[in-house]
Amino acid sequence: CGIVGYIGTQAATEILLSGLEKLEYRGYDSAGIATIWEGDISCVRAKGKLLNLRSKLEQIENPAQIGIGHTRWATHGKPEEHNAHPHMDTALRIAVVQNGIIENYRELREQLKKLGHEFRSETDTEVIPHLIAECLKNTVKNLTSPSVLLDAVREAVGKLEGAYAIAVISADFPDELIVVRQQAPLVIGFGQGEFFCASDTPAIVPYTRAVLPLENGEIGRLTPLGVEIYNFAGHRLKKHPRTLNWNPIMVEKQGFKHFMLKEIYEQPGVVRACLEAYFPNSAEIPVTLGLPADFYADLEQIQIVACGTSWHAALVGKYLLEQLAGIPTQVQYGSEFRYAPTPLTANTLTIGVTQSGETADTLAALGMEKERRQGKEFKYEARLLGITNRPESTLGQMVDNIINTHGGIEIGVAATKTFIAQLMAFYGLALDLAYRRQAITQDRLTEIITGLRQLPADIEAILETQEKYIEQLVHDFVETKDFIFVGRGINFPIALEGALKLKEISYIHAEGYPAGEMKHGPIALLDSKVPVVAIAMPGNVYEKVISNSQEAKARDSRLIGVTSVNDGEAAEIFNDLIPVADVEEILSPILTVIPLQLLAYHIAARKGLDVDQPRNLAKSVTVE
Ligand code: G6P
Repeated sequence: CGIVGYIGTQAATEILLSGLEKLEYRGYDSAGIATIWEGDISCVRAKGKLLNLRSKLEQIENPAQIGIGHTRWATHGKPEEHNAHPHMDTALRIAVVQNGIIENYRELREQLKKLGHEFRSETDTEVIPHLIAECLKNTVKNLTSPSVLLDAVREAVGKLEGAYAIAVISADFPDELIVVRQQAPLVIGFGQGEFFCASDTPAIVPYTRAVLPLENGEIGRLTPLGVEIYNFAGHRLKKHPRTLNWNPIMVEKQGFKHFMLKEIYEQPGVVRACLEAYFPNSAEIPVTLGLPADFYADLEQIQIVACGTSWHAALVGKYLLEQLAGIPTQVQYGSEFRYAPTPLTANTLTIGVTQSGETADTLAALGMEKERRQGKEFKYEARLLGITNRPESTLGQMVDNIINTHGGIEIGVAATKTFIAQLMAFYGLALDLAYRRQAITQDRLTEIITGLRQLPADIEAILETQEKYIEQLVHDFVETKDFIFVGRGINFPIALEGALKLKEISYIHAEGYPAGEMKHGPIALLDSKVPVVAIAMPGNVYEKVISNSQEAKARDSRLIGVTSVNDGEAAEIFNDLIPVADVEEILSPILTVIPLQLLAYHIAARKGLDVDQPRNLAKSVTVE
């Protein structure tokens, strides 16, 4: 879910709506806003996309200068209007939006019902305004505190269990907006005589670049005069905003039909930015990741936790770390690791990969690792590294060392450029490690880095020469029900990623397999209705992928090959060819994923689907 808030001198409604538009990637099954106007709260909510809320609001004249808004990804209660946020107390004087989960809401709800509170939804969030109302009844003006509302919110959050970010307004305190962060992201924006809050910065950058991300256990009080930050004990904290180096244009489509297509096209630039950051063109220091000198000391193993597309990047990472640096590496889903962690091993580096830096499952896995290694002797101490596109995120606050992936803000829910950027980070890490452990010769290192420098131009070539072809090709697949993607070695995770992209945005069932596994089961699915996309790049698995593809062809599958431009024989085997530059196998994922992104994009666009905001998904899932 996404939350926004505004207090200042402009009309709040439009600012809140445009903020929610920027956060719609976080959830979009219902939305609502609450403002304070003429002494009352005006709360308008609508089921479905934001457009529905916008058209409702257009019929209402409302110059209110304070308000909060929410776009929802349902956890408790169906996506119906009565479950949409904001939620209010019985007397309709307090409105609250929340992102997260209140774990003890059933218990609180029962207690509040006994005290006469009337509930109107099935959500966990609704307990919060009622609880604040209850606390307000008992709060007497404390001369040392600036605000009764602040005190009441503080008392109420003391009773909440779970992970949440909330924003609160009250008709009885029309000049205050209270925000709280506890394990879910919340950023405050500082304008001129106006202040903003949001789950993520894209909602704020069109107005100001001065932002302050709240930390867990902090409460912010926003008034037209300024921002005050407190901890849960009520002590005021000294905090200073930081300036983002983003500009508002980055969050516009700039002529592209969808953000996803724009982001696919931004990939050459992203790879260039990563090259510049990680490989400074110096013989003495070939790789710079900003990690401490002793970071890899005695390192024996690596474990990586991630979810979704980041998990696929981690699998490529494993390949690179094992094959280039010779370090045994395990990859786990964040959601699995937490409840079945690997036994503690000595000298282990744990890496969390998350583009948003906010995925709850990944953060929880890292948090657990940190905790269970606490107090252990040096060898067993938690050594943590984050790979993220958002160093200012919760992940950034959690771990001491970060590799920033330089993807720039990604709006499309289906990750594209942030995936490429994560792969680049893994090239950086594996080469840095290999170099520092002397697992690689200087010549080989130079050869790989030189190869990497060629990739941006190679991606540009794919976009220029293949996009139109793929756009045509997809005409044949709009009715297709199942797709199989195969690859081997370093391109097996790319097959998984190709399948995931297609599932996510076109709703076509797709599976990724290591090509050699086809014959052990999935081959039973094949017939003329099930196309197979094979990644067959030159290298040590090439021949094998070709024979596995022949097996599929013999079962009447249409074969689409992602191959090298120099592969003269490919045309005889594959029905359709999408060639990419002839690079060595270990570099190929950066290129082979591009046609698969385009394929998924064009099938979904051709079907007229909502490419940037596919059903049921959210870009960052901040609940476990
Ligand atoms: C969500 C998105 C996926 C993404 C995953 C992990 O489920 O829909 O596209 O890969 O989260 O996100 P992260 O921010 O941790 O990389």
